Amino acid sequence: MNVSAFNPTQTSPWQALKKMAAGIEGVAIKSLLDKDPSRVKNYSISCGGVYLDYSKNLVTDDIVAALLALADASPLIQQRQAMFRGDIINNSEQRPVLHSAVRFTDQLRGQAGLGTLVEDINAQKQQIFAISEKIRKGHWLGATGKPITQIVNLGIGGSDLGPKLACSALKEFSHPDIDCHFVSNVDGDMIRATLAKLDPETTLVIIASKSFTTQDTLLNASTTATWFSQALGLANPYHSPHFIAVTAAPEKALKLGIQAENVLQIWHWLGGRYSLWSAIGLVIAISVGYDNFTALLEGARAMDEHFLAAPLGQNMPVILALLGIWYGNFLRAQTYALIPYCERLFHLPFYLQQLDMESNGKSVSQNGAAVDYTTGSVVWGLTGTNSQHSFFQLLHQGTHLVPVDFVGVVEDGLSSPEHHRVLLANMLAQAAALMAGNQGDDIPAHRKCSGNHPSNTILLDSLTPRNLGTLLALYEHKVFVQGCIWNINSFDQWGVELGKALAGDLLNDSGNRDAFDSSTLDLLTRVRL
Ligand code: F6P
Repeated sequence: MNVSAFNPTQTSPWQALKKMAAGIEGVAIKSLLDKDPSRVKNYSISCGGVYLDYSKNLVTDDIVAALLALADASPLIQQRQAMFRGDIINNSEQRPVLHSAVRFTDQLRGQAGLGTLVEDINAQKQQIFAISEKIRKGHWLGATGKPITQIVNLGIGGSDLGPKLACSALKEFSHPDIDCHFVSNVDGDMIRATLAKLDPETTLVIIASKSFTTQDTLLNASTTATWFSQALGLANPYHSPHFIAVTAAPEKALKLGIQAENVLQIWHWLGGRYSLWSAIGLVIAISVGYDNFTALLEGARAMDEHFLAAPLGQNMPVILALLGIWYGNFLRAQTYALIPYCERLFHLPFYLQQLDMESNGKSVSQNGAAVDYTTGSVVWGLTGTNSQHSFFQLLHQGTHLVPVDFVGVVEDGLSSPEHHRVLLANMLAQAAALMAGNQGDDIPAHRKCSGNHPSNTILLDSLTPRNLGTLLALYEHKVFVQGCIWNINSFDQWGVELGKALAGDLLNDSGNRDAFDSSTLDLLTRVRL
């Protein structure tokens, strides 16, 4: 198959799905469940400690079959093999995509043309182990000889969202005497408020930046360095034991003065939104320990193996991806909601926003042609039960089709049986209510809930590092599958560069601002930039 020329709309499954969508009015999820006692069994998949029930979707067996035929007709299978093999599939940057190899390098054994990749990845794991163990044992001392107990991760996007999600989700496993703080926004109050509660003598800063050019992170680093200088009288705080850098541009970190042994190098072929498995996840290893960090990677590996081996119809990422395409490309759903019924997964919707929207928010196909079909999904969400008291009204009685992914944890070691029972009952009730609505001719219009709103329910048997890794890899591969079917490059992000460049122009006092529009120039005066 000539991958670059593939257009999904020119396949017969796509045409069949268009016809099926036209007749969707006649499909009622509740009746599909009531008439087919084996639907739940046939519409559920397990991988490790993660279970997916997709039986409450607005799909019949025929629709699922057509979606699978679409996947079959797409470059998915060959692109999947190419990715895991280390081929260059990020064409615009001429890079392989090997976040799966960062988890475990075994699939690369003996692969030609990868140089010392396997050795480099394993060497980095040793660095992560050594640094995290030293800090967790109280052996990493600051400039005044005190053990480090506070970690500040300075990073944004993929250098923040994944590590922050993992540290929050795995709170149960965190070191009792080490606190991790995340500063991402260039908004000065964020760094100010964080440093205000910290003791510089016991604080270690991780500058997490793949490019080491992100102005948000570098300004936060500079402000932090000044804080150390003023408090500890350090001539070059970057050169002290209070700074570590994680970057694909080590020369920039060294130039700043960070000691060579405190610079951990990641790789250009590792996308920021796919990087928590690498040294970008150092803060995770410090918080929960290297063994739990390894378990996180093992969980992701379990999903890698499932994704590689499971038949498409039993393949969790493929099914999630195809359902998203059914709703987005055929039923015109503009968004989907991710609702974790677990407060420790608060950051999950935000992590998935970058993972999904920065990967598939593209309008040019692999061959450079403008696509003539919808790509990407607008992802949003909030934990339950909070979201029930926020936007569920629209989900139940609004005019939008918003498919929902519910994520729940069966055994929760931090909650209490009484609270957890109420939490999970609400999750199940919301999914049932969205699907069934309320029935009866005597229901007044303003109280009517039409039902037939689709959802997936994903259950983790417990919120462990392994299960979190499996869950995150599930969504990574879902995004990849959709990118293959839409035939777009899910691994570059050129769209983020323009805004950064214009911000630089506005900040450059000697710069030529005449090129800006009258609104921006007027606003420029009002904000007194
Ligand atoms: O601007 C988008 C982006 O490049 C993301 O892809 C990335 O995760 C984030 O900025 C931070 O980039 P860096 O890790 O290079 O500071």
